[in-house]
Amino acid sequence: MLNVWEASEKRISCRAYEDRTIDDGTLSALRACVEELNAASGLHFQLFASEKPALKLSSAMFAGPVYTYAALVGRDTPEDAEKVGYYGQGLVLCATQLGLGTCWVAGTYDRASISPELNEGEKVWDVIPMGYAAEKTPVKQKLIRSGIRARSRRRDSFLEGDPGAPDWVWTGIEAVMKGPSAVNQQPVNILWQGGKAYAKLIKSGHGLEYNDLGIAKKQFEVGAAHAGVKGSFLPGDMAEFVIISK
Ligand SMILES: Cc1cc2nc3c(=O)[nH]c(=O)nc-3n(C[C@H](O)[C@H](O)[C@H](O)COP(=O)(O)O)c2cc1C
Repeated sequence: MLNVWEASEKRISCRAYEDRTIDDGTLSALRACVEELNAASGLHFQLFASEKPALKLSSAMFAGPVYTYAALVGRDTPEDAEKVGYYGQGLVLCATQLGLGTCWVAGTYDRASISPELNEGEKVWDVIPMGYAAEKTPVKQKLIRSGIRARSRRRDSFLEGDPGAPDWVWTGIEAVMKGPSAVNQQPVNILWQGGKAYAKLIKSGHGLEYNDLGIAKKQFEVGAAHAGVKGSFLPGDMAEFVIISK
């Protein structure tokens, strides 16, 4: 099985799925992952697995049936939006480790095709289709990815602040760059100041920036840990990365 760093390196948005259901062993590992993430976060992620195609994705962006998906449910607050990003990316990496293809989808799916449980004040932030990536990605889906990814920012533009950021910060930034973000906006920078790293939102407006902030924090942590520095960010914008061990 891939480790979490390898999973973060390998993950891309899967836009074409094979026509088959996920095997039982993988499905139960996925369920365990969702339970663990809900217990840690207090969020209300729900996994749906069916024998028939379930989640309807826009055929303009995706190909192939989706039998299994997660609905990322949380309260309609920036705090939960960030948690959905952080723990949702945890789920994406877990699914990637299990050999599955995934994609974050906030908009381009049919709402009527899903019916998750929503408590008072909760909403569906995103859905994550899960399945086996088609062996050959159709040209259309390849073009969609290269078209969106072509706007990716340069590595140097992700770091602000003092000169001389250490290697582990750059490894964290590399993981942030590889991570998903809504319409590939890549709206999170790392600020290196006074010997500490902070996660900083540099764009807002489409309403998903706190999802993106949480995703970027998760990715950075995976990168930093790979470079030998374990830690995690405090919640919120401009939050400090607190080192647990080096
Ligand atoms: C919060 C969020 C919402 C997204 N919503 C959609 C969506 O509605 N439809 C879609 O096709 N892709 C969606 N994406 C996928 C992004 O377009 C994709 O992650 C980005 O272009 C980077 O490409 P990559 O994931 O292959 O690295 C979303 C990504 C994120 C993080």
